Amino acid sequence: MPGTAIIGLQWGDEAKGKIVDLLTEQHEIVVRYQGGANAGHTVVTNGKEFKLSLIPSGIFRPHVQCVIAGGVVLDPASIIKEIDSLLKQNIKIGNNLLISNRAHVIFPWHNLADRIFNNIGGGEPIGTTLRGIGPCYEDKVGRALAIRVADLYQPDFKEKIENIVGVKNQLFLGLTNNCDNTMRIPGLDVELDAESIYKEYCGYAEQLRPYVADTTNYLLDAVDADKRILFEGAQGSLLDIDHGTFPYVTSSNSSGTGIFNGSGVPPHFLKKIIGVVKAYTTRVGGGPCPTEQSNDLGTQIRERGREYGTVTKRPRRCGWFDAVAVRYSARLSGVDAISVMLLDVLSGFDSLQICTAYEIDGQRIEYFPSLINDLRKAVPIYETLPGWKEEITAVTKYDDLPVNAKYYIKRISELVGKPVEIVSVGPDRLQTMFL
Ligand code: IMP
Repeated sequence: MPGTAIIGLQWGDEAKGKIVDLLTEQHEIVVRYQGGANAGHTVVTNGKEFKLSLIPSGIFRPHVQCVIAGGVVLDPASIIKEIDSLLKQNIKIGNNLLISNRAHVIFPWHNLADRIFNNIGGGEPIGTTLRGIGPCYEDKVGRALAIRVADLYQPDFKEKIENIVGVKNQLFLGLTNNCDNTMRIPGLDVELDAESIYKEYCGYAEQLRPYVADTTNYLLDAVDADKRILFEGAQGSLLDIDHGTFPYVTSSNSSGTGIFNGSGVPPHFLKKIIGVVKAYTTRVGGGPCPTEQSNDLGTQIRERGREYGTVTKRPRRCGWFDAVAVRYSARLSGVDAISVMLLDVLSGFDSLQICTAYEIDGQRIEYFPSLINDLRKAVPIYETLPGWKEEITAVTKYDDLPVNAKYYIKRISELVGKPVEIVSVGPDRLQTMFL
């Protein structure tokens, strides 16, 4: 089984980091291939909790080669901070980390633009993580104003920065002059200074130099050598730029479709895709979430599941499991098996609900709508299941779970149409059952 991928099937935060960490043992290389420092992974190892953002969760196993591939947008300050923090905690980071020279670099103008365009355009804001992700991907696709990691080491880097800063300052100035006061963004009036940005990024470039490599070539060699590679998706399939709940999505292909363009590895190499879901639904940021419970029940799930963003600390919107959405994303990401996380959070409820279809304009719909306005109108049709009272965090064998918990898992599997292979009842590696 050379190639395995771990993909979130909801709106992110499905606790993928734990599964990546567990499966890393059986792999030689772990690859992050899309997104950036908008992602947050929590890994608990030997009773210690680590928060990761850009660095693959494989970093805790010294035998594993970690790769940040070209599809990632790299915030140098953020990754340097992460590296320093892990080094301080005695985690080895050296030639076990490779950063693609093709990855696009996030600059201060991307963060500024994120703050501006998050709110312009009318309607509900996207509610981004404000990490400059979207604007950096915009420049990547636009090409003329993009800077990749390799460019940081080129003789024309200074000239590039000067030219781009010139253009960005004009754009921001134009926006400031034309904005009415309600759209005025604090900090936007500050002019970007090419010289200081250049110096700052030259410093980052030197710090990152030991890790920079042609990761596409490295991974293609690894494929030829039949190495076991684990691909670690960030965010969730429903946030996919092309197939998610547009425009309330992230700016990369966060479903299974992003593995190949982000890493450069050919599709046939992948032998298994594991889709990760929570036993319920969460979402951060804007956009519809049909099964959201904006009531005591939602609060109860949030508090029991500690549902606050790893990166932004924002409280997550919580609700019942949405089998319509997950059936769609499981097919989209081509998953072979499902891992159900945080089942323990649902202990104590008298009954539980799973959304099996939507009603849109009086019609029963069993597929996930492609248009956001249809999803906004979707009223969930629920199936009610019996709950269980027992705490299950100490259960280590699937057979020992309460009968209603097993029935809940069985229904998820039936409704999504994929086998459930892993059930997690807590953050520790030991709180995991393989079916
Ligand atoms: P961006 O990726 O910062 O542009 O944010 C776009 C949308 O994706 C917002 O709704 C964010 O809350 C959401 N998002 C981005 N990264 C994550 C994540 O790691 N988990 C959950 N939601 C995310």
